[in-house]
Amino acid sequence: MQLDLVQIKDFRNLVNVSIEPCQGINFIIGANGSGKSSILEAIHYLGFARSFRSSKHKNVIQHEKDAFTVFAKCTNNGEGLRLGIQRDMSDAVTVNVNGEKSKRASELVSLVPLQVFTPQSSDLLTGSPKSRRRMLDWGLFHVEHHFLNAVSKYTKVLKHRNALLKERGYFAAADKLYWLELQAKFGEFVDHYRETYVEAIKPYIIDNLKDFLPEFSFEISYYRGWEKGSSLIEALHNNEAKDAKYGHSGCGPHKGDIRFKVNGVAAHEVISRGQLRMLVAATQLGAVQYLKAQTNKNCIFLLDDLGAELDVVKRQAFIDKLIETEAQLFITAIEVSQLQFIEKYTEKKLFHVKHGHVEEEI
Ligand SMILES: Nc1ncnc2c1ncn2[C@@H]1O[C@H](COP(=O)(O)OP(=O)(O)O)[C@@H](O)[C@H]1O
Ligand SMILES: [Mg+2]
Repeated sequence: MQLDLVQIKDFRNLVNVSIEPCQGINFIIGANGSGKSSILEAIHYLGFARSFRSSKHKNVIQHEKDAFTVFAKCTNNGEGLRLGIQRDMSDAVTVNVNGEKSKRASELVSLVPLQVFTPQSSDLLTGSPKSRRRMLDWGLFHVEHHFLNAVSKYTKVLKHRNALLKERGYFAAADKLYWLELQAKFGEFVDHYRETYVEAIKPYIIDNLKDFLPEFSFEISYYRGWEKGSSLIEALHNNEAKDAKYGHSGCGPHKGDIRFKVNGVAAHEVISRGQLRMLVAATQLGAVQYLKAQTNKNCIFLLDDLGAELDVVKRQAFIDKLIETEAQLFITAIEVSQLQFIEKYTEKKLFHVKHGHVEEEI
């Protein structure tokens, strides 16, 4: 997947932006507040149908406007593709794939494998497991066609069972066993996919870490979301009384996680913020390398404020490895001087952003 043209309308301070990125590295340069991150954020909507810095779509719609649109012309395995997404103030989403409109964002995002790396990326390791599960599920979503189906069935059943636990006398409910068994069935599917995926990406991540953080030895493990040594149905039965008391299901793949340790201690308790970011970089890169190896899909990789906190050698190693995967890169920086390290790359374009307007440097 490669973006050949991106048009952004009424998105934050971007009124009407049109850029023609190259297949290699696209640098976006501009002062603070000029709109650099907003450009990445708009592109992010093509891959996730949401922002990476706001949970409310309304916040990104330009003040006084009713909706924003992002449109892109792409090349996917040699074929042309036209993609679009619009979100309005009522929170409705409309996606467009080659002129066919739909309300299902998954029709768009399944086509666009995209990753984002920002100064806040270390939050992935310090924050709640939810974002780490999302990361795992992203990789699976783009590699395993049936994964989305398994997750959405599991989520539906979980919702039903949680409602049952909350609303009725759970132990008297005639259908409680039915929901419990369904939760276990779909939960085991989700778990199986995730466990296999973690094992598959681990060697890539470890290999990247040898370059990025050679001073540490990392252990990466998968936590499935329930106690070791029992099946999910057993764990659900063991937890029934607790679940009924708290009104929600306390174990299952919705509690799953991927964990990173250094000498047996959680990585975020041992290494610095900059090092945590390199650990995230190694992990995201591993997911992209695995995707490329399994499906030959090329990713779109957004790097916001790459200069922040990372030293030049590490930045360079990260970019080199991304380029090896044939990812299309979008990198923002305040000044061109922060990007001297990119001189050796030939396939590149430079865009200058001023007050929401973008000009390509020829
Ligand atoms: N909904 C909005 N409508 C209009 N302008 C906005 C909106 N949200 C944010 N902005 C403005 O957009 C500008 C661009 O922000 P940003 O993309 O974060 O800049 P940069 O990354 O270049 O520092 C900021 O000046 C911000 O105040
Ligand atoms: Mg910014």
